[in-house]
Amino acid sequence: MKGIILVGGTGTRLYPSTKVLNKHLLQVFDKPMVYYALAHVMSMGVRDILFVVDGPTQKYLTQLLGQGTHLGCRFRYRRQENPGGIAEAFLLGEDFVSGEPVLLMLGDNFLYGDNFQGEADQLLPVRGAKIFAYRVSKTEGYGVVHLDGRGNPISISEKPKEGGGYAVPGLYLYDHQAMELAKQIKRSPRGEMEITSLHEAYLQQKQLYVEKLPKGLIWFDMGIPSALHEAAQYVSNLLEKKNIYVGCIEQVAYQRGYIDRTGLAQIIDQMPSGAYRSHLHSLL
Ligand code: G1P
Repeated sequence: MKGIILVGGTGTRLYPSTKVLNKHLLQVFDKPMVYYALAHVMSMGVRDILFVVDGPTQKYLTQLLGQGTHLGCRFRYRRQENPGGIAEAFLLGEDFVSGEPVLLMLGDNFLYGDNFQGEADQLLPVRGAKIFAYRVSKTEGYGVVHLDGRGNPISISEKPKEGGGYAVPGLYLYDHQAMELAKQIKRSPRGEMEITSLHEAYLQQKQLYVEKLPKGLIWFDMGIPSALHEAAQYVSNLLEKKNIYVGCIEQVAYQRGYIDRTGLAQIIDQMPSGAYRSHLHSLL
């Protein structure tokens, strides 16, 4: 399965921290924000990944992550010149996707839970798309899915004003139809190709599957200051209280067997001394 991680956008809700730096490069506890999404995608068994990124950031992201070979992966980069919406990633990455199923993750999303694991290709329905649902008390900042008594989707909308419900986190799985359906999306009043429109298209075909995320799972959209802070605090607590190192891409690569001991040792050799290096060293 192919993976796309979105790392563009203007990050207006984090201004002025994002005046000169793309939000996905901002620090979340001890590593850049994009590490968390990347570690998640890699841990779901996806290694061929396209980053959709704004022009000025491409250079920095490439410096940070390279071509991915050191992690046993393949990373490519594609520019999104203007914030044209999440679903635009399909048009930008058409040659990359080339008819394969895709896992799409937003680079500012953080998901963690002992009981939330799974291989991307096993989570994907035979035909259709899979999204997740996470109960929130305020839906206004999110895509929201309305479910019937059996948990099947009835409707889906982008950032509705009213009350609580099921928000849709930025982790989505699509079969090969996504590209064609994305091409038919009309831009919203804010000029964007909304990801919710793609989900509506799947819903109309009765091929949208929703999985409620288990209780106890943690989800943050780190695009606002309070969530960014909370995520950093959460990562720090996990480390201090449970000795769990979340978002560590080298660890995922090693533990999943994408690289061997020698590969990890080579990565460590390139790192300056410090806590991150010591942690990786302890894995050897
Ligand atoms: C985006 C999506 C929204 C989704 C959210 C998850 O919103 O448009 O459907 O629920 O990400 O983080 P944004 O945060 O880009 O406004």
